[in-house]
Amino acid sequence: MNYRHSFHAGNFADLVKHALLLWLLERTQANGPATVIDTHAGAGLYDLTGDAARSKEAEAGIARLMASADRPPLIEALATEVAALNPDGGGRFYPGSPLLLARRLRADDRYIGFELNPPVLTLLSEALGSFPEAMAEGGDGYDQAVEWAGRATGPLVLIDPPFEQPDDYLRAADAGAAIVRADARATVAIWTPLKDMETFDGFLRRLAAAGAGRVLVAEARLRPLNNPMKMNGCAMVVLNPPMGTEDAAREICGWVVEALGEAGGRAEIWAP
Ligand SMILES: C[S@@+](CC[C@H](N)C(=O)[O-])C[C@H]1O[C@@H](n2cnc3c(N)ncnc32)[C@H](O)[C@@H]1O
Repeated sequence: MNYRHSFHAGNFADLVKHALLLWLLERTQANGPATVIDTHAGAGLYDLTGDAARSKEAEAGIARLMASADRPPLIEALATEVAALNPDGGGRFYPGSPLLLARRLRADDRYIGFELNPPVLTLLSEALGSFPEAMAEGGDGYDQAVEWAGRATGPLVLIDPPFEQPDDYLRAADAGAAIVRADARATVAIWTPLKDMETFDGFLRRLAAAGAGRVLVAEARLRPLNNPMKMNGCAMVVLNPPMGTEDAAREICGWVVEALGEAGGRAEIWAP
């Protein structure tokens, strides 16, 4: 397991994922007590003066977002969370999905995050230590998420693999589809990189074959997809998208591409 999210924390792809996640959580909470399941949780909190400073990905992502004077509401919501973690100003700390979600939990909401890498699990447990509604679990997130989702009504599930294993696309599609097949009120958001289109199309075909039902694709392409060795963009694929997801995704992906993208980049929100 070589993947380290600390190199990528706060990059454009995190911004798309986290801004949409905040909106999806709000929608889920509007239905009553919310259960949130994070299959690949990561460390929970990132110090951007470490690995992220070396990769410069946060510099091209969250640093530019925080410096922007023109942020639409759903981007502003993420900026507010980041500012709360940096009360003295600056942008040293960036929240991962666990902390971002845990900070928004109400007394009767629950969060569970799974993390396979033991040292990262220790960091995750520390990050969630002061949130009694949130818990961290070790082990493989895919199967456990399906099991946990089966015990909740209308859960919100984030599937955010590193895509370093050859079967990550298949397992993400199968786990997501299993969750919405079992509970028509569940919402599943699956994050994927966009490198070449056939990999992504194959993933969408697998979702359809697995019976994922209603799907919304929110793509933020920072540049044309003509270099398959590079992450040229990212997508959030939402199963059972709540009403309003399309507009929310358009606002978020549109801003990210406009503010952080290159010539030939574009946001695409569509239903396969
Ligand atoms: C992309 S990062 C997660 C980022 C996090 N969701 C966020 O938005 O802040 C993926 C994480 O999944 C962990 N991981 C890899 N395979 C896993 C698996 N099968 N189950 C649970 N965690 C896994 C990695 O160690 C890594 O920390």
